[in-house]
Amino acid sequence: MSQRVAEKRVIVLTGVTRGLGRALCDRFHELGHVVLGCGRSADQIETLRSRYPDPHDFSPLDVTDDRAVAAWAGNLIRKWGPPDLLINNAALINRNAPLWEVTADDFQRVIDVNILGVANCLRHFVPAMVARQSGVIVNLSSGWGRSTSAGVAPYCATKWAIEGLTQALAQELPRGMAAIPLNPGVINTEMLQSCFGQAAQHYPTAEEWSQQAAKYLLGLGPRHNGQSLSVS
Ligand SMILES: NC(=O)c1ccc[n+]([C@@H]2O[C@H](COP(=O)([O-])OP(=O)(O)OC[C@H]3O[C@@H](n4cnc5c(N)ncnc54)[C@H](OP(=O)(O)O)[C@@H]3O)[C@@H](O)[C@H]2O)c1
Repeated sequence: MSQRVAEKRVIVLTGVTRGLGRALCDRFHELGHVVLGCGRSADQIETLRSRYPDPHDFSPLDVTDDRAVAAWAGNLIRKWGPPDLLINNAALINRNAPLWEVTADDFQRVIDVNILGVANCLRHFVPAMVARQSGVIVNLSSGWGRSTSAGVAPYCATKWAIEGLTQALAQELPRGMAAIPLNPGVINTEMLQSCFGQAAQHYPTAEEWSQQAAKYLLGLGPRHNGQSLSVS
C-alpha cells in the first residue's frame, strides 16, 4: 500500500494479454491506477477480468479493426473521460527471414498491427485528450526503431515508422500534452524469443522490467513531448 500514489490515473494499454503489457497491468494495478486494456486472446482477457474487476476494464479486441477500436474507445471515454496515459504497446514481429523471403501477407500483418493499429487507437482516443488538453501518449518503439538488424526488416520498418509518426503527432498536440516514442529495452518475452531464440533467456523477464518501467512511464509528462526515449 505504501507504493500507492495519490493521483489515480486512467491508463489505456493495448496488448495487455502477455509480455510487457501484461506485466505493466500488474504494476499499474499495484500502484492504484485504473487499467483499461485490450488484446485478442479472449481467454487471457477473461482471466484479467476475474483478477482485476471493475473499475478496471479488459476487452477482447484486435487493434487493426478500426470500427471495433472506435466502439471500444467511445465506451471507455463515456465512462472515464479521456485517458491520462495512452500506451500503444500491441505489436507483432515477423518470423526471422531475409526481406525478400517475407511474404506479402506476413509483411502486411506486421504493418497492420504495428502502424495502422497504433493509428486506429490514436484516431479514437486522442480527440478527447486534445479537447481536454492533457494526457500522455506513449507509442512503443524499439532499439530497432533507431537501428537495424538482418532478419527483422519488416519489424524495423514499422518501428522506424512509429518514431516518425510519433514525432509528427508531437508537433500537432496542444501544450500540456505529450507524444513519446519509447524504446523499452530488451526483455525476455515471446516476441524476443521469436527473434533471439535461446539467447532471449539472458535478458530480464517482463515482470523484472516492469518494476522500473511502470514508474518510468508514470513519470512522463508534457516536458517529454517529442523526445525519443528509452526506459532507464
Ligand atoms: N520484448 C522486447 O525486448 C521489446 C524490445 C523492443 C520493443 N518491444 C515492443 O514492446 C511492445 C510489447 O512487446 P512484447 O515483447 O511484450 O510482445 P509480446 O510478448 O509478443 O506481446 C504482444 C502483445 O500485443 C498483443 N497484440 C498483438 N497483436 C494485437 C492486435 N492485433 N490487437 C491487439 N493486441 C495485439 C498480444 O496479445 P494478443 O495476441 O492476445 O492479441 C500481446 O498482448 C511491442 O510494441 C514491441 O514491439 C519489445
